[in-house]
Amino acid sequence: MTRQATQVGIVGAGPAGLLLGHLLHLNGIDSVIVEDRSREHVIDRVRAGVLEQGTVDLMAAMGVGGGVEHAGLRHAGLYISFLGQRHRIDLTELTGGKAITVYGQNEVVRDLIDARTATGRPLYFETEDVGVAELDSTEPVIRFRHGGSAHELRCDFIAGCDGFHGVCRPSIPSGALTVYEREYPFGWLGILAEAAPSSDELVYTLHERGFALFSMRSPKVTRLYLQVPPDEPIEQWSDDAIWDEMLRRMTTRDGWKPNIGRITQKSVTPMRSFVAAPMRHGRLFLAGDAAHIVPPTGAKGLNLAASDVLVLARALKGFYERGSSDWLNEYSDTCLRRVWKAQRFSWWMTSTLHRSPDETAFDHQRQIADLDYLTSSCAAMTSLAEQYVGLPMEVSFESAGLPAGG
Ligand code: FAD
Ligand code: PHB
Repeated sequence: MTRQATQVGIVGAGPAGLLLGHLLHLNGIDSVIVEDRSREHVIDRVRAGVLEQGTVDLMAAMGVGGGVEHAGLRHAGLYISFLGQRHRIDLTELTGGKAITVYGQNEVVRDLIDARTATGRPLYFETEDVGVAELDSTEPVIRFRHGGSAHELRCDFIAGCDGFHGVCRPSIPSGALTVYEREYPFGWLGILAEAAPSSDELVYTLHERGFALFSMRSPKVTRLYLQVPPDEPIEQWSDDAIWDEMLRRMTTRDGWKPNIGRITQKSVTPMRSFVAAPMRHGRLFLAGDAAHIVPPTGAKGLNLAASDVLVLARALKGFYERGSSDWLNEYSDTCLRRVWKAQRFSWWMTSTLHRSPDETAFDHQRQIADLDYLTSSCAAMTSLAEQYVGLPMEVSFESAGLPAGG
């Protein structure tokens, strides 16, 4: 048995765990990160693509923004398409200069793993039997196996950054958490294709056959999504069938459509809204998808993981520098204010742009009216724009030990 001690034990090396580890490093606080998958798996996993302005600013302030700055695609607007017509919303003009940046989550994770490695602080991949215990004590523990031997890591605090299917949230006694949840009667079939993006900006489409989304990863790679039933077997979709359906839903009356190319990745993701509150039990603090899930239509999941760990880093800094637990005690309420606003936005984007199996003709006409209003009212477009580029973080960069940003 190998026994170790650290200030903050972090479970999970996704965006939340890696960003937190680096924020703590910048404040001189020790951490150990424990991840159950391999480095390659964590980097290759194809997931989010849209970074809010605040997430880009945060990464720059942390000194890990070089990759985003060099290879990220800054978008000043997006399109909403319905009844065969695209309508542009100018995000930058409506928000006083803000934008979103398209930069794959796998690139974010790669940059953060490189930054972690450069600090020389521990990051264990391919751990097994990870468990957390003694959460109510002042010395909670993470137990795991690595390279054939058992490890026991004593911590001052544990950060549960292990995603929706992790072990941290289920380790909290039942009854201590309230769960708010909504499942949607559809999922997204997503593909990556070797095709130059045919638009410089994202296109969100409501078609009578269902939702479709045009996005990208680079000047040579297009990323596309289709609304499908939540349990749709991906094997039922040949590449030709995927392209037929993408083109049917996305082609607009002026002839715009995505470019076709070789499909290099395809998968189906179910959609849900989920919040577990409070985001803390004793000395275990949940952050990111471990505490909440949003349907991807608002592109908020990764960005919420970033804002949670900024709040957590500030709270831990306050504890170690001033011996104060005030910000730790406020952690959950502070995060949940922003989380619920992103939940509301993601639910609204999802329900306005997807077709439900149980919807009535009235519901569909209301959706069209919603989109017609959205794309013709400056007030409505401004509301979408300020939420899409990201509402302000709840705490300042300086309070978490970073240079001012944003
Ligand atoms: P995760 O990324 O899930 O990381 C958790 C880590 O913990 C993983 O590495 C996992 O392997 C590890 N882990 C799990 N269990 C254990 C264990 N027992 N022990 C040790 N380690 C463990 N968000 C956006 O902001 N914008 C988008 O455009 C967007 N698009 C999306 C599109 C799709 C198709 C999907 C599926 C998601 C999308 N998201 C988007 C959501 C985003 O990917 C997640 O919100 C984000 O990954 C959350 O980061 P996290 O670090 O909290 O969790
Ligand atoms: C993506 O590019 O993967 C993406 C873009 C916008 C979303 C969700 C995912 O809302």
